[in-house]
Amino acid sequence: MKLDDAIAGRRSMREFLPDPVPQGTVHRILEIASRAPSGTNIQPWKVIVVTGDDQAKVTKAIMDYRLEEAKADAPKDTKMPRRWAEPYLSRRRKVGYDMYAKLGIEKGDKPAMWAQHGRNYEFFGAPVGLFFVVDEDLDQASWLDLGMFMQNVMLVAKQEGLDTCPQGAFLHYADLVHAALGLDDTQRLASGMSLGVADMSAPVNSLETERVAVDEFSDFRGF
Ligand SMILES: Cc1cc2nc3c(=O)[nH]c(=O)nc-3n(C[C@H](O)[C@H](O)[C@H](O)COP(=O)(O)O)c2cc1C
Repeated sequence: MKLDDAIAGRRSMREFLPDPVPQGTVHRILEIASRAPSGTNIQPWKVIVVTGDDQAKVTKAIMDYRLEEAKADAPKDTKMPRRWAEPYLSRRRKVGYDMYAKLGIEKGDKPAMWAQHGRNYEFFGAPVGLFFVVDEDLDQASWLDLGMFMQNVMLVAKQEGLDTCPQGAFLHYADLVHAALGLDDTQRLASGMSLGVADMSAPVNSLETERVAVDEFSDFRGF
């Protein structure tokens, strides 16, 4: 697979088939991904790969909590909503609108949106979940390193015929993830990720997100 094709072909998938992904495949993906650059080669990434009971434990912890939250009407993921400025606000709204349209969820249908958001914690049905953590005392340079590593994971997965969804949603319940995975306070959860064979019959997986033109985010000088 050409690199261009892997990059252009990678999309966040939000419905997976139950087909298992062998441990060896995940190992190979991580091995190649670990060729990512990192400042002074510190390789700050750590990954916890879960399937089966270990994956179900994370899902259960969060889904049980969400049920309690729903009763109390105080979900963790709506606390302290961040204020987004333009142009980011419009871009966020657009992808949300397009995704819910694919799902047939009407604007303002909060119960349906809540349920769909909950699919994050079921890894959208994917058989493998990855949790990316960095040491608590590392700074933003290490988070850049981790981002490059994560992108490699997604591209190599694509090359392997697999798909992914990076998931910041798990950060809403970072304490529950920590407990379920047995992480200590020296570790900080950066992201979750679903990995598996995408269900291409699911309408949500036909979502193709937009990108702004190069000239809108670039400033060429001295050419
Ligand atoms: C750090 C990060 C966190 C994300 N968190 C979530 C998430 O929690 N749930 C989700 O469905 N998508 C999540 N996404 C996927 C983005 O919505 C997606 O990358 C974006 O809309 C562009 O679409 P594409 O990945 O299909 O190109 C995340 C992406 C990144 C990079």
